[in-house]
Amino acid sequence: AANLVAQTPPMGWNSWNHFHCQINETMIRETADALVSSGLAQLGYKYVNIDDCWGAYDRDIKGNLVANKSTFPSGIKSLADYVHSKGLKLGIYADSGYRTCSGRMPGSLGLEEQDATTFASWGIDYLKYDNCYNDDTRPTTRYLAMSRALKKTKRPIFFSMCEWGDMRPALWGSKLANSWRTTDDISDSWESMLKIADLNEVYADYAKPGGWNDPDMLEVGNGGMKHNEYVVHFSIWAISKAPLLLGCDIRYLSNETMQIISNKEVIAVNQDKLGIQAKKIRMEGEREIWAGPLSENKKVVLFVNRKTWGSPLTAHWDDIGFNKNSVVVEARDVWEHRTLERRFQGNLTAYVDPHSSKMYVLTPIF
Ligand code: GLA
Repeated sequence: AANLVAQTPPMGWNSWNHFHCQINETMIRETADALVSSGLAQLGYKYVNIDDCWGAYDRDIKGNLVANKSTFPSGIKSLADYVHSKGLKLGIYADSGYRTCSGRMPGSLGLEEQDATTFASWGIDYLKYDNCYNDDTRPTTRYLAMSRALKKTKRPIFFSMCEWGDMRPALWGSKLANSWRTTDDISDSWESMLKIADLNEVYADYAKPGGWNDPDMLEVGNGGMKHNEYVVHFSIWAISKAPLLLGCDIRYLSNETMQIISNKEVIAVNQDKLGIQAKKIRMEGEREIWAGPLSENKKVVLFVNRKTWGSPLTAHWDDIGFNKNSVVVEARDVWEHRTLERRFQGNLTAYVDPHSSKMYVLTPIF
């Protein structure tokens, strides 16, 4: 990749999915506080990422980007200091065109070095770089300019390319960036979430430590899906080695939301050091089996039932990639936190409720 950050997918929070442009420094500080007090930071959620709308409409007289005076009166540097004092990292947003997607801030096109220098001087740790209002030049050129500019600053800054997948950034992204969006924006619905998951899955082979496919930020906790649907959402993102960027209001988390996003075993699958993205290995209509390798010869298997009625699903060892039909495994249900008493040989069958999933970590025992 472009640098040495992100050996495992980044984890944290981003303001966009829940707040859009309704952001200010107080709520960013409160979010940082809440990440720590809820225990989420301890679980790995370290990035506090400010999305679009943090800046003034125009650059200052030196041509620098500046924070919006009314919503971020203390400036971004002081916010970074605060976030760092809590043991967290600060992310920010910019655009590879003339203006950001909201139209409310200047873009960085042609001023990549100046802006990268500004971000580094503020202590920024993560840059999401968007694709709006560009001049129709190739994204490879525009993203390369910022990638190089960030490198020049010598500060390790996670570089997130938000190109929406049009030019198939998975094919060229790893030289430039630490993650690349493979799709258009997610919205808080079962249909949108699955559409995005499917589009992202196609590029599974391109994900690796240091450079990840990005199916966009999480909607868990925003209210548009049922609990079981959010479990499917979080499970797919986890096995897909997607960035786990929470998109809800961390200051007011329900127990249900907390239960999903704080699942240590599911997070461990996402953060597994092998860094291999799981794929769909079998589809039976709207019932799917996803699987992928984990370190120590383990495998993760996810049964997804998209139908509105429940049904059993079977994963076969040949499909999962266990060498022989004879491999016997122990199956751990990572949502139930329960190791099944039975051992499995050749295949594993589970009953899956409608719009639900079952997720197992399989450990070969002999
Ligand atoms: C684009 C991006 C979103 C978000 C908005 C902000 O749509 O894809 O993730 O950053 O811009 O305006």
